[in-house]
Amino acid sequence: MPKIDLDFVEKLTLQERADLVSGKDFWFTAKVSGVDKMMMTDGPSGLRKQEQTGDALGINNSVDAVCFPSSALTASSFDDQMLYQLGEHLGIAANAEHIGVLLGPGVNIKRSPLAGRNFEYFAEEPLLAGRMGVAYVKGVQSKGVGVSVKHFAANNRENQRFTSSSNVDERALREVYLAQFEQIVKKAHPATIMCSYNRLNGTLNSQNQRLLTDILRNEWGFAGVVMSDWGAVADHVAAIKAGLDLEMPGKGAVSSKEIIAAVNEGRLEESTLNRSALRVLKMAAKYSQTNQPAVTYDKREQHEFARQAADDGIVLLKNEGNLLPLSAEESLAIIGELAEKPRYEGGGSSHVNAHNVVTPLAAAPANSAYAPGYSLSGDQVDPGAALELAKEKDIVIFFAGFPEEMETEGFDKQTIDLPTDQVALLDEILKVNSRVIVVLQNGSVVAMPWANRVPAIVETYLAGEAVGEATWDILTGAVNPSGKLAESFPLRLADNPTYGTFDANHDNENYYEGIFVGYRYYDLHQLPVRFPFGHGLSYTKFAYRDLQIVEKADHVQLSFKVKNIGVRAGKDVPQVYVGNRASRVEVPVWTLAQFNKVALQAGEEKTVTMDLSRRAFSWYNAAEQRWEADNGTYEIAVGHSSRDLVLISSFDLTIGVDPLAKITGETYVGELLAMKSQKVTAALKKAGMMAIIKQAIATPDAAAIFNNIPLRSLTMTGIKHEQIANFLRDVND
Ligand code: BGC
Repeated sequence: MPKIDLDFVEKLTLQERADLVSGKDFWFTAKVSGVDKMMMTDGPSGLRKQEQTGDALGINNSVDAVCFPSSALTASSFDDQMLYQLGEHLGIAANAEHIGVLLGPGVNIKRSPLAGRNFEYFAEEPLLAGRMGVAYVKGVQSKGVGVSVKHFAANNRENQRFTSSSNVDERALREVYLAQFEQIVKKAHPATIMCSYNRLNGTLNSQNQRLLTDILRNEWGFAGVVMSDWGAVADHVAAIKAGLDLEMPGKGAVSSKEIIAAVNEGRLEESTLNRSALRVLKMAAKYSQTNQPAVTYDKREQHEFARQAADDGIVLLKNEGNLLPLSAEESLAIIGELAEKPRYEGGGSSHVNAHNVVTPLAAAPANSAYAPGYSLSGDQVDPGAALELAKEKDIVIFFAGFPEEMETEGFDKQTIDLPTDQVALLDEILKVNSRVIVVLQNGSVVAMPWANRVPAIVETYLAGEAVGEATWDILTGAVNPSGKLAESFPLRLADNPTYGTFDANHDNENYYEGIFVGYRYYDLHQLPVRFPFGHGLSYTKFAYRDLQIVEKADHVQLSFKVKNIGVRAGKDVPQVYVGNRASRVEVPVWTLAQFNKVALQAGEEKTVTMDLSRRAFSWYNAAEQRWEADNGTYEIAVGHSSRDLVLISSFDLTIGVDPLAKITGETYVGELLAMKSQKVTAALKKAGMMAIIKQAIATPDAAAIFNNIPLRSLTMTGIKHEQIANFLRDVND
């Protein structure tokens, strides 16, 4: 292999360099003398390697591969180690299939429950999405396979995704929509980033210099390849100039021709082309496996891992009267066609030609009988047999969920309601047997107006090919559930902040809610939710105590104790939330700052320690273009979910910046006095202002008015302009 550097690139012909910045075809980079082509393949939850005809929507078939749970479920594990192992398995499969770069993970934020691709994304919370992404990327790349973290950025809607502009204010962009990408770039060094189709504040992402170069490379230090999503490039030359390196897929000879013409006509600097060609070459040289000898891998072992991953993520939402876990003595009616034809993966580019799907019906225990009760294809089914069965058996396991046509890549949903025939059947069943356990299969948030009438609900999302085994692992208690919701389930779609505006405007998606996404919005408005972010039950119980907070030189250290106070072993996810009570800007009531997955035997207690970096206390100050942690009071809470905070302590941060560090003419009298600073008092006295102010604030009413006047406007009270100027000079001296 030759040394791949700028010298090498400069010796290539213009044609070769132009070839390099476009895909050779659907899945490969171009081959040039000395460096082989490299293959890329979807996707987040298993390989979708297409050997024959390529397409970006999962239409044509792909190789046999193990289908792991979708990201909606893996993120519900809150388990970095599991995500790392998932990455390792994907890396092993990619190696065996000669794949250089795996097109995943998708880390966009679940902003609206209607977004068609939520199943493929981790969370409504950037810290969680970022941590899951970091672990996944490290896992894949530990096997010598690169990743493409997608879809950069603010690609939160599918309808008109190729053209619509996501209009997001800078603070929300940084705090919510970019933060997880930033975390992954800085901590896991992904080989590539995939830029998304949409526009961001008017500029196509594939041509967005600020996003692809200023922020991604210059601020975050990204050194890999930026590739386009499939078909995201409108103007190839403009894209290369903005910081895109690789157009995917290539458009054939046209792609190179337009680059060559632009260079020859002086519209594209050769140095710019060389820079991108070098990045693509370095990637291909490092990751290409095209000529590697064939290897095999153990798909049975991967299937077993797919089962463990699903076990780790499935969320027990409700369990009244401890109906679960099931006891072997009770007879079961299994109802719902999803038991027989499960939804276990999302549609579109993440579609996997699954190796060995084990359905819930195939894995069902012996003391059960099945009736479909409804049909996923919408055919009329007489519910009589299902109702008879429900009457006969001790417990009903009702499989419900969204049919595949309802949620896939490429378009958004119209509703989060279950199909009406499923709900109607559930109603009828409840009339004959109240001991009903609803098992949900869906890619994202479901409305559950029936939730109060059902004693137990289990959220299995799209659980991958081991869906059947994993479902029964949880139902029977072979595995103690430990999944937590990575998204809030509102009572009604109308409670979501994007309701009525999501997808309402053909050309623009306006992010009116700003930073108040997901639980940040529901908390702010004190809205009740069906199941809060972070919620998930266990067959045991965990208790927290003894929260200690210690400020260090550049972070805050926490410790607390977690105890399993039940009679079964289990895993818990204590969640730490920060409440900023210091800053003088809008802030969420609580923001997730850390979490850990902790395994505990019955009766066991462990001390959990965590570091909260300065960022955990920061907001993005758009005016000054920097993250700002303000000194002052913060609350720190440890809880079972965002709505079940058990230990709450407050403390004063001193390692940040003083929000009032600089006193200006716009500093208010009240703020000045609240500083209780000797320097301020001395300067006020010297300027002859102290006596006047004291007199003016003598009564509470007058003080309320006077405190709310900025220094520069004190002229309205008779204080002279020179006095104010003198004070400002002295106090800032
Ligand atoms: C999707 C990407 C995918 C690509 C290749 C696009 O339609 O948005 O996520 O990686 O196709 O299949």
